[in-house]
Amino acid sequence: MPRKILVTSALPYANGSIHLGHLVEYIQTDIWVRFQKMRGHQCIYCCADDTHGTPIMLRAEKEGITPEQLIDRVWHEHKRDFDGFQVEFDNYYSTNSVETRHYADTIYTRLKEAGLIEIRSIEQYYDPVKEMFLPDRFIKGECPKCHAKDQYGDNCEACGAAYQPTDLIEPYSAVSGAKPVRKSSDHHFFRLSDTRCADFLEGWIQPPHVQTEAANKLNEWLHAGLSDWDISRDAPYFGFEIPDAPGKYYYVWLDAPIGYMGSFQNYCDKNGLDFDEYWKPDSEAELYHFIGKDILYFHALFWPAELAHAGFRTPTGVFCHGFLTVNGTKMSKSRGTFITAESYLNHLNPSFLRYYYAAKLNGSMEDIDLNLEDFAARVNSDLVGKYVNIASRCAGFITKKFAGKLGAIDAAATAEFLTVFENGEIAKSYEDRDYGRALREIMRLADVANQYIAEKQPWAMAKQEGREAELHEVCSTAMTLFRDLTLYLKPVLPKLAEQVEAFLNIPPLAWTDTWAALPAGHAINEYQHLMTRIDPKKIEIMVEENRQSLAPTPAFANTPAPARHAEHQQNEAKAEAAASDEKSAWEPFISIDDFTQVDLRIVRIAHAEHVEGADKLLKLTLDLGGETRTVFAGIKVAYAPETLIGRLTVMVANLSPRKMKFGLSEGMVLAAGDERGGPFLLSPDSGAQPGMRIK
Ligand code: 2FM
Ligand code: ZN
Repeated sequence: MPRKILVTSALPYANGSIHLGHLVEYIQTDIWVRFQKMRGHQCIYCCADDTHGTPIMLRAEKEGITPEQLIDRVWHEHKRDFDGFQVEFDNYYSTNSVETRHYADTIYTRLKEAGLIEIRSIEQYYDPVKEMFLPDRFIKGECPKCHAKDQYGDNCEACGAAYQPTDLIEPYSAVSGAKPVRKSSDHHFFRLSDTRCADFLEGWIQPPHVQTEAANKLNEWLHAGLSDWDISRDAPYFGFEIPDAPGKYYYVWLDAPIGYMGSFQNYCDKNGLDFDEYWKPDSEAELYHFIGKDILYFHALFWPAELAHAGFRTPTGVFCHGFLTVNGTKMSKSRGTFITAESYLNHLNPSFLRYYYAAKLNGSMEDIDLNLEDFAARVNSDLVGKYVNIASRCAGFITKKFAGKLGAIDAAATAEFLTVFENGEIAKSYEDRDYGRALREIMRLADVANQYIAEKQPWAMAKQEGREAELHEVCSTAMTLFRDLTLYLKPVLPKLAEQVEAFLNIPPLAWTDTWAALPAGHAINEYQHLMTRIDPKKIEIMVEENRQSLAPTPAFANTPAPARHAEHQQNEAKAEAAASDEKSAWEPFISIDDFTQVDLRIVRIAHAEHVEGADKLLKLTLDLGGETRTVFAGIKVAYAPETLIGRLTVMVANLSPRKMKFGLSEGMVLAAGDERGGPFLLSPDSGAQPGMRIK
């Protein structure tokens, strides 16, 4: 019986690039969906960009574009990356859509009617300069536990302590640098603490809705007592305004997962499907969410409770996976292991990563490690050495000696394959998301096939007269075995499988109930090279590129991408200059050592004031992250002192102090300017902190 299945992956935020960490989930989901489709089920894979929130609003503002322009651009980038990795959504949409708004309003209204929404006044940090409430991540200050400076409002990166932003010592806004004030406003809460929610969840959070290890964690949370969930944010905010609460917007968990519904409604409208058939409480369709363990709480407590009390069905299963580590540790920008999807695709074949991830995934919540050495070794040995090798060793004889036509089959050689087909173990492993187990069995079969070929030695037969029939049989049998392996690998390697289908001249492989060898007389096409080994150098270059993208781009570099390492840039500049007779306009060059003698630092302008009797100067008090300096800067023509207080800029910190008429100047701030205008002070990207060195 064909099943009706709706599948989702977590919606990626529209304010960042897709990286290899994200792809663990999308590749995992895509494999499962493709498997279900090959089994003949109706399986619909919906996703979308998660477009709402303060970070997106602020980033658009910084780029001088509207949030809509930003999310549109990012949507295309994300879609390009997913296409590149053969992640085939049936619908890739956006949460900033009429459909998502409709379901957010429906759910909110129904929860409210059920008495599960409560309004409460809460006190939060507010940026008086930017005139907005600050999300925890946008408040920084000194850790109340270990006193490390410049820690985020929710937890300390130095000692790991978790706290409230209001616990920070000397907090400041990461948006404007201003000292935040505490201000209260009304927030809407979903009453997750209501006994109706706890009673419902008590019965719901167990296998098969969630994995056993997830159920344990969820029960711990449930029995520790669930808190009500803050579902609103105040203007200014990029999102959906709550209909009966002007100036209040739904916060992420009241529109992101609802984006699953929005995307599916959009798919239904385009394909003539009935949304309610999938989402009504007694729906017979299955609904699965693939998620990472960081959002288990929301998907397995908040989301089902929300759906159950708003008159919708709840998920059939929430499939939770672990995080990605690279070479055994957290992905790291400085090590170059924070690899973007785009950069991977510039260097390597997506099938490699799909295969490697699949080999590591087992349906559990354990983290998976991408060990780059092992990655190359595994792909080369399994895919090139074992799988592709079968076709490349035998196909040529069929073309050259038998006019491309297959002959009879060696039934004994296919027996093991038939047994595996009939026992359904590979299908079961895919169904259970234990792709590692599936691939181990597939590679065992590849070994069986290779052993058969090695024993028969078709290349020797081809040289001996009178052995044509044998040669024909061995190579034809090898083609059927290769076909089987391709069928099993198809959910993981869809593009490669398509190439093989074209080569074997067969219709798209599907997981049918009966097994049959490729028939005698069937014509195949000439074998084309299917896959090349991974060259470890390419991995090195990719890692280097991701490491380099952190290095500053010299001001004079006018190539926008890819960002290059400053030293390389300099060597290249030197090489170019040496190759040319003309003297560069930038000469005399300085060495990198000359440059590093200048100690440039991020500073916060703690105070700024006019200087009596000076018509060009302002007196600035600069906070270097602990130490303060006084600097007289000739920027009065361009800046009113009060507009400077709180902002971050750049100073030369190791300039000899200079005695001026008005006092001692202990450094210099940097500003740009020429006949076109200025002076313009420099501003670092958000994230930079007072005292950070610029290098
Ligand atoms: O955690 C995240 O990545 C969010 N963008 C939410 C994803 S899941 C959702 F959409 F429900
Ligand atoms: Zn700390």
